[in-house]
Amino acid sequence: MINYKEKVEQHKEQFINELFELLRIPSVSADPLYKSDVLKAAESIKNSLIKAGANQVEICQTLGYPIVYGEKIVDVSLPTVLVYGHYDVQPPDPLDLWTSPAFEPVIRDNKIYARGAADDKGQMFMHIKAFELMMKENNLPCNIKFMIEGEEEVGSSNLDQFLKTNKEKLKADCVLVSDTSMIGNETPSITTGLRGLSYVEVEVTGPNRDLHSGVYGGAVANPINVLCDMIASLQDEDNKINIPGFYDDVIELSTEERTLIAKAPFDLNAYKAALDINDIQGENSYSTVERTSIRPTLDVNGIWGGYTGEGAKTVLPSKAYAKISMRLVPNQHPEKITELFKKHFESIAPKSVKVKVTPHHGGFPAVTPIDSDEYKAASMAMEQTFGIPAIPSRSGGSIPIVASFEKILGLKTVLMGFGLDSDAIHSPNEHYGIFNYLKGIETIPYFYHNYAQLKNA
Ligand code: BES
Ligand code: MN
Ligand code: MN
Repeated sequence: MINYKEKVEQHKEQFINELFELLRIPSVSADPLYKSDVLKAAESIKNSLIKAGANQVEICQTLGYPIVYGEKIVDVSLPTVLVYGHYDVQPPDPLDLWTSPAFEPVIRDNKIYARGAADDKGQMFMHIKAFELMMKENNLPCNIKFMIEGEEEVGSSNLDQFLKTNKEKLKADCVLVSDTSMIGNETPSITTGLRGLSYVEVEVTGPNRDLHSGVYGGAVANPINVLCDMIASLQDEDNKINIPGFYDDVIELSTEERTLIAKAPFDLNAYKAALDINDIQGENSYSTVERTSIRPTLDVNGIWGGYTGEGAKTVLPSKAYAKISMRLVPNQHPEKITELFKKHFESIAPKSVKVKVTPHHGGFPAVTPIDSDEYKAASMAMEQTFGIPAIPSRSGGSIPIVASFEKILGLKTVLMGFGLDSDAIHSPNEHYGIFNYLKGIETIPYFYHNYAQLKNA
């Protein structure tokens, strides 16, 4: 085996500079203002793939942002790995909380600071760089297909269609993704489960216009007060979700599985200290790790209405809004949950207001096997480069496409992420450790070697 650690070390400056170029493109998929930048990021990925040695590189149009495809077929008798990642990023706001601008990457404390540094540009780019190295060394033991999308952060709504119409092109033996985190730099882990998602927006309307809160207050329902009551009623004292039928399809884990989860290292005090909270909160009889992985949740992501400007304005607003997400666990169905939410939310509205529930995107949860060749190849690869065995661990985040890979292409995914939960993804000051970036590039070639060997056996 080629000494990839050495190779990565030799090229590290170049690898970091090239990632910086990509991070400078503000490819925010949620905001139409950034449209040309999102397209520019796709163009940039295309060029990186060509430079690395991929063939058939193309920008595939969809009804939304394009998917960049490229492949290297070394030998049809070798196994084929489909690499998935995303070049779009979350909006950078609140801007004033960034120590340095979101799209001007810098290194502080051996970490790369920029929106998308970890999610997912930095992690996705590791795959292109590892591929480039393997090509240079004439040491590519598998066929590779890259599929890098630009709408992950807005729900990947055009991806299922792309999979359906490109089954032949995407034919592979497994999917490899780096878009999740590990437990720690000294505790490598592989993600074996992702939560699903049901995301809704609610609108509560009271009077037909904003009113003087003195003249009308006390007699006319205030939609913000009502919305707060309604939201508060969605969870009980034990933080259980009060929507009838919500837990019907949830699978309870066996004692064995829960014992395994409890084995992974977790430091509650460090967790609280890192978030600057005095206490945690969640369902009784579940650990923090369980609450954020194997249990469903309901969270308000944003709430607004009325007067929020400088000083005070006495107003009884006409409308109130909230964006609410529910994270789902295996066997829960996003559309069914959205329907249950809608029915329940409408039913608890007092007569004094009107409510409207608008579904946004959803996504299925996923669990990935640990006895597959791809899981073993990833696990061995991490052990080879970290010197410690990788722990299987379920994550709380969502990558809805993982379920689609299985459903539409019949492919299992291995989630070999190199980020950390503390990378502040989706938050101000997102960052990605240089250690993590380089370790990823070093580990990926081992994955291909292990996979080719296991498949051949
Ligand atoms: N990479 C994340 C998902 C993730 C993060 C999984 C950390 C595991 C650990 C992905 O980009 C993401 O943010 N997904 C969204 C869902 C999507 C439908 C908007 C999420 O989880 O909120
Ligand atoms: Mn991501
Ligand atoms: Mn994300």
